[in-house]
Amino acid sequence: MTAYIASFWMFFLSMVGGTNAWTTVSRPSSTALWSSLGSTLESKEQYDIVKVDLEDDRDYPIYIGTGYSEDESATLLQQHLAGKKVLLITNDRIAPMYLDHYKQLLSRNNRAEDIHTLVLPDGEEQKDMNNLQKILDRCLELGLDRKSTLVALGGGVIGDMVGFAAAVYLRGVAFVQIPTTVMAMVDSSVGGKTGVNHALGKNMIGAFHQPSCVFVNTATLETLPDRELQSGISEIIKYGLIRDAALFEWLEENMERLVQRDPAALRYAVVQSCLNKAAVVKADEKEADVRATLNLGHTFGHAIENGSGYGTWLHGEAVAIGIAMAARMSAQMGWIDESLLQRTMKLLERAKLPVALPPDSPMNRDTFLKLMSVDKKVANGQLRLILLKGELGNCVFTADFDEQAMLDTIDHFCEPCAVAK
Ligand SMILES: NC(=O)c1ccc[n+]([C@@H]2O[C@H](COP(=O)([O-])OP(=O)(O)OC[C@H]3O[C@@H](n4cnc5c(N)ncnc54)[C@H](O)[C@@H]3O)[C@@H](O)[C@H]2O)c1
Ligand SMILES: [Zn+2]
Repeated sequence: MTAYIASFWMFFLSMVGGTNAWTTVSRPSSTALWSSLGSTLESKEQYDIVKVDLEDDRDYPIYIGTGYSEDESATLLQQHLAGKKVLLITNDRIAPMYLDHYKQLLSRNNRAEDIHTLVLPDGEEQKDMNNLQKILDRCLELGLDRKSTLVALGGGVIGDMVGFAAAVYLRGVAFVQIPTTVMAMVDSSVGGKTGVNHALGKNMIGAFHQPSCVFVNTATLETLPDRELQSGISEIIKYGLIRDAALFEWLEENMERLVQRDPAALRYAVVQSCLNKAAVVKADEKEADVRATLNLGHTFGHAIENGSGYGTWLHGEAVAIGIAMAARMSAQMGWIDESLLQRTMKLLERAKLPVALPPDSPMNRDTFLKLMSVDKKVANGQLRLILLKGELGNCVFTADFDEQAMLDTIDHFCEPCAVAK
């Protein structure tokens, strides 16, 4: 049986002699430092630092703030450059808003003397081998050496692609993440999963390569469209469901503040999400087991993203429907109370996320099953799912589920589309 029940965490926590206290950590009023399971939080007036603890001296900080001074930002960023050569990469939507600012920060006081920029086309469909090639071409044309740093300025698409380029260029150079979407701030920029899409599957080509630092200025979210903001919130809800009941409850109290971009709420949600992500990455960097739980809703979600045609749904929107499906399936098997299913649906809806497929969706049972069979979590031909089990904040990663419940769930979600056909 391949079930990593909630007890995985219980076991892990008992091994380190703790309780689940770290998930309820709240920000102290003054500068303080404390360790929690797998991640460390240091809070300063203008920003917080979540440290990702990894072996072999690969620890790195995630800076999360809003009111950094220019000097502060420049100092924080520059100390993570490997040398004086930098290639700063973004896309044509972000470039007019933020490229000059970050170029200037990186070159302030001549720390990075040799700073170059590359602007790629915007869009998930651009996360491909072709644009990866463009980055590598530019690195070679510029003669970037092992002491160079690639800097990713943007959302998950730019971050994943630049990270992958940094992983393979000269067999690995340093890279810095400057995430500008909620999705990238709470999830994709942390943990070192990098890669590009292939026509036959999303994120199918990639590498693990950790950044030297992640620099978050939540003020950049002011320009982010509502839909993109909400898409990122689905990953925050995910952390609450799989391992952080206190965060879920905080979201139930504060969802409207978050959707309305209250700066303190954004900072809190990003910090708590990064603490969760950092702890999971520390426990299982290469996704042998427990890191897979970060994919709650993603097996269904990736099928929806791909089957509907990339670009129809944003990643977090597809994941929101996927989370709704995973929660429903879990409730049908009696693994969670009906009340937790209802709370989950309500929270997703308050985040203005979709929880159902629309009548014009091309999804049906066959498309789901076909696309789910190429999921990266399939092992030895067996589909494994992340499902909720037990009290809020607990999940399992398992192949041992009732297949009929999965089919019923897929049919239930495809029903509006089937009726319309
Ligand atoms: N590596 C991982 O662990 C991981 C985790 C989650 C998601 N991902 C990947 O991340 C990608 C999705 O990331 P995303 O949601 O950030 O998408 P994205 O990078 O496409 O950004 C969304 C849109 O917002 C624009 N944008 C970005 N920042 C902006 C800002 N501050 N103001 C205005 N517009 C802005 C972008 O140009 C883009 O049009 C997917 O490819 C997904 O597979 C990776
Ligand atoms: Zn995701």
